[in-house]
Amino acid sequence: MDPFVGSGTTLIEAKLLGRNAVGVDVNPDSIKLSNSNLNFMCPETSKIFIRQGNARKLLFSKNNCIDLICTHPPYANIIRYSKDIQEDMSHLSYENFQNAISEVAKESFRILKEKGICTFMIGDIRRKGYVLPLGMISMQKFVDAGLVLKEIVIKEQHNCRSADYWDGRKRNFLLLAHEYIFVLEKPVSRAQFSDH
Ligand SMILES: C[S@@+](CC[C@H](N)C(=O)[O-])C[C@H]1O[C@@H](n2cnc3c(N)ncnc32)[C@H](O)[C@@H]1O
Repeated sequence: MDPFVGSGTTLIEAKLLGRNAVGVDVNPDSIKLSNSNLNFMCPETSKIFIRQGNARKLLFSKNNCIDLICTHPPYANIIRYSKDIQEDMSHLSYENFQNAISEVAKESFRILKEKGICTFMIGDIRRKGYVLPLGMISMQKFVDAGLVLKEIVIKEQHNCRSADYWDGRKRNFLLLAHEYIFVLEKPVSRAQFSDH
């Protein structure tokens, strides 16, 4: 499941690996683009579905049904993916994004099977020369939702916006040159271990 499917990279990889996958995006243009990117022949067989929807409320997903969430949300309003789609989280300020990603975390917890994995990539951002730790705050929302952190992978980030400033004279802060890939697991429910 990729609830921020964008151009469909996760689904393309799933198709190549012969895995079943569902992609969701709030933007109908992303749905069209993903459909077109997935229009290739592949020796593996898989079922791939793409739905227009909101990662904050995955209405068509039942509880405890997904093995793996693999996704890449917007980094608050650093890059805007649409002009006027109200549910698009790329319109949210750093502060409002935190509530939204918290809802995404709760939905992720709900739809994952026990021992299911949720992995997502996100980076920190800067405002007026100061770091806003969007990555770590987002990770904490998933932990607060009940998932358990298994890994933090640091990925080198290319072509980031602040690179423009790095080479020039405005060199008054370090380049944010990495993103995080967080890997979390839904624990087995405690009810299973309780004495009857
Ligand atoms: C960083 S991009 C995803 C990139 C993707 N990995 C790819 O292969 O292109 C984030 C995506 O999240 C979508 N998005 C923003 N808010 C959303 C929401 N509330 N629910 C679902 N998708 C949303 C945007 O439309 C955008 O396509």
